[in-house]
Amino acid sequence: MTPSKALSIADLAQAARRRLPPGIYGYVHGGSEDQLSLDANRAAFRRWRFRTHPLVDVSRRSMAIELFGAAYDAPVGIAPMGVAGLCAFDGDLALARAAAAARQPAVLSAASTIPLERVMREAPGTWYQAYLPAATEVIGPLLARLQAAAVPVLVVTVDVQIASARENELRNGFSIPLRLTPRLVAGGLARPRWLAATFARTLLRQGMPHFENFTATRGGPIVSAAKGDHRAGRAAMTWDTIAWMRERWPGRLVIKGILRPQDARRAHALGCDGIVVSNHGGRQLDGAVAPLDALPAIAAAVPRDFAVLLDGGIRRGTDVLKALALGARCVFVGRPAMYGLAAGGQAGAARALELLRREIDVDLALLGCPDVKLLNTDYLIREDSLP
Ligand code: FNR
Repeated sequence: MTPSKALSIADLAQAARRRLPPGIYGYVHGGSEDQLSLDANRAAFRRWRFRTHPLVDVSRRSMAIELFGAAYDAPVGIAPMGVAGLCAFDGDLALARAAAAARQPAVLSAASTIPLERVMREAPGTWYQAYLPAATEVIGPLLARLQAAAVPVLVVTVDVQIASARENELRNGFSIPLRLTPRLVAGGLARPRWLAATFARTLLRQGMPHFENFTATRGGPIVSAAKGDHRAGRAAMTWDTIAWMRERWPGRLVIKGILRPQDARRAHALGCDGIVVSNHGGRQLDGAVAPLDALPAIAAAVPRDFAVLLDGGIRRGTDVLKALALGARCVFVGRPAMYGLAAGGQAGAARALELLRREIDVDLALLGCPDVKLLNTDYLIREDSLP
């Protein structure tokens, strides 16, 4: 199926499954251990039902938002995802470009295979996600590099203290950095189109995919720094590291991976500009609470001008409306954009965003809400509170 024929994110997921070697599809699609959080992320949306407001003029509808001084055409961004280059040639760039063309936010992953300077040149306004060790001598040069590249928003991911157990990746022979295991090679040979259009092209142009953005800081490769010195590694990062960064980073600072009101308040108190309520798409601690379930208490705990963002499990326009009604300013999608990317490169990622925008537009009309900024809990009722 070409992306333009896809009618839903589920269609794009199917197309991605047919296009990608099983090991790579598993890396994108899967979660950790028993996938409890992955399932919970979707189930959380199903527990909320809409209370429609009929007889409201919805002939003109708006889903535009403003975030960190930028105007966006829709309250949906692309979440940071590592090694997007395995799903399509120059994948990290294609995701950023698709979002920029749609005037929607995108976050470049620290595990990008494309230098961040190139992404910032070709898709200005892209945000940057960092995986940081506690070692400030590594963070300092990275901040300087981000500032020089005009990164407006720095997102620090705090739920990957160490790698999680993702059994499907082990079974499929998938690892990062990529190694050509027999299973992965067999999977690649079974997907000749992917082999030619994505992998061979990448190998020819750039060599074996590796993480540009990790290695280019003066502190050396962050990944091996983390392995070599546990005190300086990512697992040693604390709120003190965030406070240190806040003093030195002049741009917007967002903490990704918050699930408790106390931590949201702490991020606000330290001068951060926002948080992403997230369990990493069910890919880290299995059993971590679904972001949508954590959202209402978090939104209630911080001032309204503090940006509460959310990701995890968004697959439909109705999911976006539910998250916004419960207090999120903007949501991010991970897998939906990656499915689109795998199915059709930048055009496929653009299709994923377009499908969600179309759904939001129809859903707003049927809900009786002319503007996403008006959404609140009065539009929702919890399924378990129904008579
Ligand atoms: C991710 N995620 C992620 N997060 C992050 O901060 N840095 C990263 O490099 C990655 N890499 C990554 C790769 C892939 C393939 C996926 C699917 C996810 C997590 C991502 O930013 C986001 O939190 C979740 O994907 C949101 O859940 P959904 O939308 O995929 O359900």
